[in-house]
Amino acid sequence: MDKRVSLAKRRGYVFQSSEIYGGLGSVWDYGPLGVELKKNIKERWWRSMVHERHDIEGLDAAILMHPKVWEASGHVAGFTDPLVDCKQCKNRFRADDPKIKGTPGQPDAQCPVCGSKGTLTAPRQFNLMFKTFMGPVEEQAAVIYLRPETAQGIYVNYLNVLQSSRQKIPFGIAQIGKAFRNEITPGNFIFRTREFEQMEMQFFVKPGTETEWFEFWRGERMKWVEGLGVRAEKLRWHQHGKDELAHYATDAYDIQYEFPFGWQEFEGIHNRTDFDLSNHQKHAGKKLDYLDPKTNERFVPYVVETSAGADRTTLVVLCDAYREEAVRGDEAAEGGEQRVVLKLKPSLAPLKAAVFPLVNKDGMPELAHRIHDDLRRHFNVFYDDGGSIGRRYRRQDEAGTPFGITIDGQSTQDQTVTVRDRDTLKQDRVAAGKLVEYLTQKLAG
Ligand code: GAP
Repeated sequence: MDKRVSLAKRRGYVFQSSEIYGGLGSVWDYGPLGVELKKNIKERWWRSMVHERHDIEGLDAAILMHPKVWEASGHVAGFTDPLVDCKQCKNRFRADDPKIKGTPGQPDAQCPVCGSKGTLTAPRQFNLMFKTFMGPVEEQAAVIYLRPETAQGIYVNYLNVLQSSRQKIPFGIAQIGKAFRNEITPGNFIFRTREFEQMEMQFFVKPGTETEWFEFWRGERMKWVEGLGVRAEKLRWHQHGKDELAHYATDAYDIQYEFPFGWQEFEGIHNRTDFDLSNHQKHAGKKLDYLDPKTNERFVPYVVETSAGADRTTLVVLCDAYREEAVRGDEAAEGGEQRVVLKLKPSLAPLKAAVFPLVNKDGMPELAHRIHDDLRRHFNVFYDDGGSIGRRYRRQDEAGTPFGITIDGQSTQDQTVTVRDRDTLKQDRVAAGKLVEYLTQKLAG
């Protein structure tokens, strides 16, 4: 994992937030390449959910919501972790921290930091929502929360979307946006952070049909994840046991990836029943039921949710693409016998190609700039004339750039260039005028 984290920093994927001040705990910033990769993943998700389906609409709800939303949703009462404090050293732990010896609150319990015995308090529930104040007064009445999931913005807008889009049940609403959780045990780079982005879709169905839709969405989501180019053997399902289910769910399956730190979830499919809509109906005093035009029946829809983390999915893609390889032949002579390469699916790669004049003379830079200018109207491409060609290839291998375009002596004679494939290291000679077509074809999918 350390190697992946240091590559992410070196190549401009991910930086620690506020690094010059020593960083802010478990908050991260996306650099020039990271923002592109994450954007490509989000766009792919949006396309598959909203553009390619007739039965899902998009939404972008605000992060700040009426505080009663979180009472109705159960987050004020139930979105908590049990914590214990050490009265001696003042450190705080999750009650189930395996480093704690004994039973917290009892004389036998030993603090894992200072080693004192009998100083750990009994567990207390700690809410994971970030609180802030709205308006100029800092008093209880002005407390609002940063949303801990985007889903609630969808539920409170479900009738607005239904009516304005003239959809009929079954239909869904999709949203991508930030969520915030004051996690007690964050960590593993961008895996568990306090500020993160979710890609969530809530599918509203007639009660009694939810199991069928749940299975349908499980199938769709696994296909989508495999479409990111992630190796199938690194993916598996995990069904939640009774003690793992969130307060709103009656059934839940996670898609897990085998990270360098073990198998962990990055997306969940949840049967949320009518839990959220019924509670909003009660708390808001507004009817949220649906009149089925075919049968004239009224019902509160059930919800099947697909909930993916944009950052965690980005981490899956980054971890899965990372390879260290032995190199042979000309490339080994030029750039060394080992290379680190991000084998990102070309359509997800931040940079699609890099343009290299072999040397900075004999008309090569002029032609290379012309090609770069032409290509950048179609793709995100990079220009690099620094160092040996072998070194330049290696830098782009680490960045995950699928194609390297070199302008050499022959290019200025016949207007052809070489295109090096990041994965096979094979080179094709391509007419400069055909590059857009060539790359378009290679980047499809
Ligand atoms: N609306 C349902 C929901 O929020 P969740 O299982 O709590 O369900 C869904 O979260 C996804 O959001 C997770 O699978 C994960 O990818 C992402 N996620 C949750 N907490 C996160 C955190 N602290 N840091 C990064 N991603 C997180």
